[in-house]
Amino acid sequence: MYSFDKFHELVAQTIDENPFSKSPNELYEPMDYILNIGGKRIRPIIVLLGTDLFGGDIKKALKPSLAIEFFHNFSLMHDDIMDNASLRRSKPTVHEKFGTNTAILSGDAMLIKAYQFLEDLEPELFKKTTQLFSKTALEVCEGQQYDVNYETKVNVSYEDYIKMISLKTGVLLGTALKLGALVGDASEKDSDALYQYGLNLGIAYQLKDDYLDVFGSLEHLGKKHAGDIFENKKTILYISALEAANEEEKEELLYWYSSNTDNVDKIYAVENLFRKLNVNRKLSMLIREYTNKAHSFLDQIDVPEERKSHLRELSEFLIDRQG
Ligand code: IPE
Ligand code: IPE
Ligand code: MG
Ligand code: MG
Ligand code: MG
Repeated sequence: MYSFDKFHELVAQTIDENPFSKSPNELYEPMDYILNIGGKRIRPIIVLLGTDLFGGDIKKALKPSLAIEFFHNFSLMHDDIMDNASLRRSKPTVHEKFGTNTAILSGDAMLIKAYQFLEDLEPELFKKTTQLFSKTALEVCEGQQYDVNYETKVNVSYEDYIKMISLKTGVLLGTALKLGALVGDASEKDSDALYQYGLNLGIAYQLKDDYLDVFGSLEHLGKKHAGDIFENKKTILYISALEAANEEEKEELLYWYSSNTDNVDKIYAVENLFRKLNVNRKLSMLIREYTNKAHSFLDQIDVPEERKSHLRELSEFLIDRQG
């Protein structure tokens, strides 16, 4: 069995082996830029882990793993426009550096390139994986639209929130693993269980992302501090705070989330409320709950326990991460 670092190296090598040599440079340079400024590359790695779990041919999974990483980076290019984000992976975002029109078009092209990485698969597998990919891509768009809708909606329930993050983040982790499983010739039942593992882990992953937005360090995270508060995002921190707040605190929170301001007083005030209302306790509980749920699906998969060790380590790594 390969080490975790080896999987990382294989992904890096495959990215290097598929350069953008075409013109116009203005279209391709932003893709090259976003791919090489230090993403964690979690998603392509888990495609390979999915194949490896069933003893499949890792080489066959390399290009499909890039399909997922290209899709992810396309979604970030557009997400950063939608979220008014100026920093990604400690570097200027694509629209900040190259302009919004370029970020839109380059993102579109990157999505198309993502699909091309599935083209070498044999017809039956190509059909299956493309169907899965398209279904997921649409779901991510739905999740992103809910995320935007909720910026101006006051009453976002916990259930609304979980649905939104399942769509915008969870399904892609599920699909990455399922894609790997399909390439590894896993049974329907096992590949579906692996999808569920990824989906639930993805929910925990986004919960942690919401936490890091406010409580992470800029150095590790490489994104603007408290960008979600500036944008009135209805994250788990906001939802838990609102739930725990008394009338006065509720009024204060709603006041800040009804304004679109760059005033840092908003950040201080909201962070104070988050701390005072102990939102992190609820968050840690939820992360644990979804990680446990993920593991219950991993338990159902019919392969020897030692083959699952990378996936068990992975969930701990993802949850403990600082960036
Ligand atoms: C950022 O994903 C967007 C989310 C869905 C949380 P990552 O934190 O995996 O981003 P990179 O690719 O490592 O930069
Ligand atoms: C991003 O969610 C989800 C997608 C790009 C589909 P966020 O907006 O929370 O991700 P970051 O914090 O910008 O990385
Ligand atoms: Mg964002
Ligand atoms: Mg977003
Ligand atoms: Mg975020």
